[in-house]
Amino acid sequence: MTSTSEQPLMVARTADAAEANPYLLGVHAPVSTEIDAEDLRVIGEIPNDLNGVYLRNGPNPRFAPEGRYHWFDGDGMIHAVHLENGKARYRNRWIRTKAFEAESAAGKALWTGVMENPRGNPFGNSHGLGLKDNANTDVVFHRGRILATWYLCGSPYAVDPLSLETLGAEDFLGTLAGDMMAHPKVDETTGELFWFDYGPRPPYLRYGVISADGRVVTTTDVELPGPRLPHDMAITEHYAVLMDLPLVQDHAAAQQGRHKLHFDRSLPSRFGVLPRYGDGSQIRWFEASPCYIYHVVNAWEQGGEVVLDVCRVQRPQPRADAHTPLAKMLSYLRLDAQLHRYRFDLRTGACHEGPLDDDNTEFPTVDARGVGRRNRYSYAVHISPESTLKFDGLVRRDDLAGTKTEYRFGPGRWGSEAPFAPREGAPVDSADGYLVTFVQDEREGRSELDVFDAADLAAGPVARVLLPQRVPLGFHATWVRADQLDNLRS
Ligand SMILES: [Fe+2]
Repeated sequence: MTSTSEQPLMVARTADAAEANPYLLGVHAPVSTEIDAEDLRVIGEIPNDLNGVYLRNGPNPRFAPEGRYHWFDGDGMIHAVHLENGKARYRNRWIRTKAFEAESAAGKALWTGVMENPRGNPFGNSHGLGLKDNANTDVVFHRGRILATWYLCGSPYAVDPLSLETLGAEDFLGTLAGDMMAHPKVDETTGELFWFDYGPRPPYLRYGVISADGRVVTTTDVELPGPRLPHDMAITEHYAVLMDLPLVQDHAAAQQGRHKLHFDRSLPSRFGVLPRYGDGSQIRWFEASPCYIYHVVNAWEQGGEVVLDVCRVQRPQPRADAHTPLAKMLSYLRLDAQLHRYRFDLRTGACHEGPLDDDNTEFPTVDARGVGRRNRYSYAVHISPESTLKFDGLVRRDDLAGTKTEYRFGPGRWGSEAPFAPREGAPVDSADGYLVTFVQDEREGRSELDVFDAADLAAGPVARVLLPQRVPLGFHATWVRADQLDNLRS
């Protein structure tokens, strides 16, 4: 028996805007209701040793966009499914950012997006970038709360992982100056959070550490030759790894507060290895071939080297046949990344790099309890050859054996980021657990949460939880284990 309570919210939309932009239609079309639904129907069986909550963030504009809409502009909305004792509950909520509250009070959009000049926007982030901090990019669990983050650096918004209530812009007891990037890293062994902040003006990059008791304990500026667009970072047991990649902000545009990209093939990719609590002057840079990297798989220390696995984009530039601004935007969004390994030798300063796989995979994950330590298993979504922004399957890679196993969702079925959810009591990085993801069926216009046995992806989902509304395609997801939620309650 499914009980559903809906809280309809007023959503204004113009037909013109929706018809003009594929990111407001079909699998991307935003939803307009916040729903709580219990005891969801399940095909198969939710394993009794899988307890916790799957949360996924993504863009979901509440009001009709002002000007041209870019997929990254939409207000952050979290969709979550809580699994407990074989039962499933669904809930979705917008993140109540300051901008969301301002637009809600006005009853209309007040900000234009990245495709337009932001000059008339009410306010931006701490770097003077006049875009809406919509907190729509990632969901990171730290100290009992979800931090909803934004890729251009914004306030990390604290959200309750079960109620999805927005608790507010997190400033870590007043110790966080500036903003935070999309993908801070949690070391579950120490309880610390590692992050950076970047912007169009010096200092272009600032790195920091937040302690297990929730205070910023380290911040240091990292010198870069100019404004950059770092998206992710890595940690190891003793180091942080930061990146200076040659996808750069167009300088003239940045001076005018605009956001424009340029891939400079004449520059190397640079990777900075910095002691976790070090000063920026202690960073050691390693040079490699030019590329762009959205996402890190993991990093670790091994025999005097720092090893870094990433999804590497070889050609981060628009397709040559993209002529209109909208087509350029869409082609820039394409994901064409291959699993790639770097080895930074701390003794000699040498950098070695090479591919681990030639398939197009992205949104990589490892067992979150083992981030920063050597992992045997990693997981990723497979990018559809038909549409480079749709995920058509899951991949598990066994680094020890050098093998991979895969699953495809089937025609018209698209996944989300699929974090690893360990079986209760399973050792770290044992692959003893599950992969959990939303799957949207494009033909039927509905969504489900699919649960896979991580050790046997090819067998297909062991449980399909049918959701009370379609979940638009989105960005990042996480799995919060029951033991993490228990700590919260005690
Ligand atoms: Fe990302």
